Amino acid sequence: MPEPVSTSPAAPGVAGRTVLIAGATSASGHACAAALTAAGARVIAVGSNAERLAELAASVPGAITRVCDLGDFAAVTALAEEIRGQATVHGHGGIDGLIHLVGGWRGGGGLAGQSEEDWQALDAAFGTLRNTTRAFNDDLLASDAGRLAIVSSASVARPLAGGANYAAAKAAADAWTRAVAQGFAKATAPEPPTAAAVIFVVKSLAGLEQQLAERVIGLWGTTAAELNGVHIPLDPA
Ligand SMILES: NC(=O)c1ccc[n+]([C@@H]2O[C@H](COP(=O)([O-])OP(=O)(O)OC[C@H]3O[C@@H](n4cnc5c(N)ncnc54)[C@H](OP(=O)(O)O)[C@@H]3O)[C@@H](O)[C@H]2O)c1
Repeated sequence: MPEPVSTSPAAPGVAGRTVLIAGATSASGHACAAALTAAGARVIAVGSNAERLAELAASVPGAITRVCDLGDFAAVTALAEEIRGQATVHGHGGIDGLIHLVGGWRGGGGLAGQSEEDWQALDAAFGTLRNTTRAFNDDLLASDAGRLAIVSSASVARPLAGGANYAAAKAAADAWTRAVAQGFAKATAPEPPTAAAVIFVVKSLAGLEQQLAERVIGLWGTTAAELNGVHIPLDPA
């Protein structure tokens, strides 16, 4: 298991990087936006609700906000094109980091309670991961230090009947992210990858938002070869 907060000799560093936070208006999104901005990254915070994004912009000066329904692939590709047209410190034009935070727990009621409505909501959240990774894959590969991170759940390894929908949706996100990691590895093989996809794992995020933010910063303190395709558990205090 790599130590993402340590700085390895060839660590690329986060300052000047363009990092898009997909689903940025939760407490964890605020923490990541604040930490990345403080570390010198250019943060593009994306959500579907303008009011909540305005609150984020007010609490994290410097963060750029964009309203986008990440469930709409055409809207996501338009956002990717808009960002590619902007000047960046690292020069390749696209994003260097995609921190995907769209999730949302649904469940309860045993297996019988695993409703169609809940599944559709969870599937929609998974769809935002598919859309953003597909739209930004080339940018993450073009960066000399592309990073993708998602937050998965301990329920993937230990699913419960009352959370079967949720565990299945998070398992899909986990598999998708490892598939992205395989693509990152393949793109530079036999040389080591420059891009890395990682899966943070938590039981509950409450109280771990700051730790998540620090671990996100640490993704640029570790080489892609050490990170690509790994699960990184966040430790409850
Ligand atoms: N919370 C936990 O205890 C826990 C436990 C295990 C894993 N996780 C995972 O950790 C990640 C972060 O969780 P979280 O609770 O901080 O965030 P979250 O509330 O699940 O989602 C983050 C944000 O995504 C935005 N969003 C939803 N649909 C969107 C869409 N179509 N387009 C754009 N934005 C959209 C929402 O903001 P707007 O409404 O403003 O758009 C929401 O604030 C998720 O993947 C979650 O499954 C969380």
